[in-house]
This record gives sequence, structure tokens and C-alpha cells, in this order.
Amino acid sequence: MARIIAVSNQKGGVGKTTTAINLGAALAEKNQRTLLVDMDPQAALTAAYGIDPGTLEKTIYQVLLAQELDVDSVIHHDIRPNLSILPANIDLAGAEVELIAHVGWEYLLKEALLSIQDEYDFILIDCGPSLGLLTINSLTAANEVLVPLLCEFLALRGMGILFDTIRRVRKKTNPQLRVLGIAITLFDGRTLHSREVLEEIRSMFGDNVFKTPIRKSIRFAESAAAQMPLSEYSPQHSGADAYRTLAEEILAR
Ligand SMILES: Nc1ncnc2c1ncn2[C@@H]1O[C@H](COP(=O)(O)OP(=O)(O)OP(=O)(O)O)[C@@H](O)[C@H]1O
Ligand SMILES: [Mg+2]
Repeated sequence: MARIIAVSNQKGGVGKTTTAINLGAALAEKNQRTLLVDMDPQAALTAAYGIDPGTLEKTIYQVLLAQELDVDSVIHHDIRPNLSILPANIDLAGAEVELIAHVGWEYLLKEALLSIQDEYDFILIDCGPSLGLLTINSLTAANEVLVPLLCEFLALRGMGILFDTIRRVRKKTNPQLRVLGIAITLFDGRTLHSREVLEEIRSMFGDNVFKTPIRKSIRFAESAAAQMPLSEYSPQHSGADAYRTLAEEILAR
């Protein structure tokens, strides 16, 4: 049965999608059968693997809200070796208000993944920048949460709200949910600020912080624009290696 990991942080632009793209690629490279689930109406994850969200007839929206029970038929299989994707498009923006009308709305994603979770080793869910109904669905479906955290002092402020939400989800819908770890993103080792914040984060969260910070590099944006993970765009780049190391840490946790 797959390990289901929600990549979540309500703060925007902290590297959630970049982590889903590149961690997914690293796990697939290590022969882990991996499914990427796009739970963000912005559909950046879907687009980053070369799928045009605008042309899709079936997406995660149909799975959650339009009685599309055959989840497998919505998945784009083997877009890369060991890598498949359950895409999103802008339709998902409507889901945020439509979900509430469904009894048991919190469980819709969890139920959808039940029939396919044996086919994968990892399912990574890319959450949008909110703690709304879609993210609650993702946290209810997941066994683990991976939190990308910007290496900036102000970024620490939102962590209390995120951890409160995780506690609430544990209490109401998913007692097993555990924090897999905090991944430091956009780290700039040349600045004192970045190094100081890294120390601060490590002293606050201890072993919950992954050992490898993901350094800042323009190559991440370039590779996403070229519709491929960094490991394909520039296989030897240290950023691709950082996600390989992160994958190893996750396999060991
Ligand atoms: N390590 C990095 N170095 C440099 N740029 C990065 C890095 N990680 C992500 N980025 C860039 O920062 C921007 C935001 O990243 P990303 O889209 O992954 O964040 P996000 O948390 O998914 O955002 P949103 O909350 O909007 O979904 C993107 O342009 C991305 O290419
Ligand atoms: Mg994103």
C-alpha cells in the first residue's frame, strides 16, 4: 500500500509544487512507483509535466465531485518511468464551494484513492496555498505531511496555523496523520540571514527538519518552464541531487 504524502503549507510560493515535481522524479528514479496528485486549481504540477490543463476533459474535479468513480481512467499513466499523474485544471476552483454540500466531503479524496493505492509505492499530493476544503481533503487522505518551509524569518509565522490544522484533522478525520518532515526551500547559504534562520528552524523543530536544505537556483523555474523535472533538464545539478537526498531520507523515515 502506498505511502500517501500531502505536500502542504498555506503560504504561497514556498516550493510545494517544485517539491512535488522533483521529489516525484527522484522517487521514480529510485524505482518507486509514484503517483502525483494535483490538488491545486492553478494546476502548475500538471503543466510542469507537459500536460495542458486547458484541454483536459477529466481531472481530479470529476473524481471528487462529478461521480467519476473510475479514478484509473483519469490518471495519465507512465508519463515517465514509474511516474503517473492525476491532473487538475481550473475546474477545481469551483470545488472549494461545491464540496461543502456533500455529506462527508472531507473523505472524498481518501475514498477516491482507496481503489488505486496498491498500485503505487508513493502518492504525493500537491496542495494549493490555503487551508480550505481541498487541503482538508488532502490531509484526510494522507498518512504523512511534508511541509516545505521558506528559509526566511517571516515564513515561520504561519507554521502555528498549519500545525493547528494538522492537529484538528487528527482529531476529526485522520488520527494516523503524522508530520513526515519540514523541507527547507530557497536556501541561500551565502546570506547570514538564511544561515541564521536555518539554525532557528532546527532549534525549533529538531529532527523534524530534513537534513538537506534545498538551495535557491533559477534552474528550478527553468526546468518547470521546459516542462520537466530538474533531474531531466540538468541531471547533474546540485538541486536535482538535493531532491535525490531528500528522497533517500524519506525512504529511511
Ligand atoms: N529551490 C528553489 N530555487 C529557486 N526557485 C525556486 C525554488 N523552488 C521553487 N522555486 C520557484 O519559486 C516559485 C514558487 O515555487 P512553487 O510554485 O513550487 O511554490 P508553491 O508553494 O507551489 O506555490 P503556490 O503556493 O502558488 O502553489 C516558482 O517560480 C519556482 O520555480
Ligand atoms: Mg504550487
